[in-house]
Amino acid sequence: MEKHLITLHVNGEVHQIAVPANRSLMDAIREDLNLTGTKHGCDDGDCGACTVLVDGKPVLSCMMLAACHQKQEITTIEGVSQNNQLNRVQSTFCTEGGMQCGYCTPGMIMSVKALLDKNSNPNETEIREAISNNLCRCTGYTKIIKAVQTAINLPEFIERQDKAEPVDAFFA
Ligand code: FES
Ligand code: FES
Repeated sequence: MEKHLITLHVNGEVHQIAVPANRSLMDAIREDLNLTGTKHGCDDGDCGACTVLVDGKPVLSCMMLAACHQKQEITTIEGVSQNNQLNRVQSTFCTEGGMQCGYCTPGMIMSVKALLDKNSNPNETEIREAISNNLCRCTGYTKIIKAVQTAINLPEFIERQDKAEPVDAFFA
């Protein structure tokens, strides 16, 4: 199939890639940009493993055409950590046992990031709603919810909220 040059803005960097018109955003991210933290699960919009943020909103990248998102800012799991440091939700997923096989985890983290960026103190129902598109076959969700709640309640995070910093203070 004929290829077209497109521009994607991913994790603060600009990339030009040549792709067929039907290239999914998930495949562009994984195969063309080699950002394999975004997972290829069902490829059918059912599992949430491919979740990335487009202009801060979680989307299922397997269901999106890469060429349709050239003017938007895309964030993948690789763009969540900073200076090689895990952010607090990534950390508490580890400490609270929020992942086992880990395949769902990047998509889960992206959905949680989108939630906390707009609501710094969500209740359990809001957390569950936020990850309702993300299927996990391993943990039964209890530890995932606990991991998010632990991250929210970390003292440094509360202190930053008190100082009314932007929710991007979420990133340690
Ligand atoms: Fe996209 Fe499953 S791989 S929803
Ligand atoms: Fe295995 Fe979620 S940790 S699918």
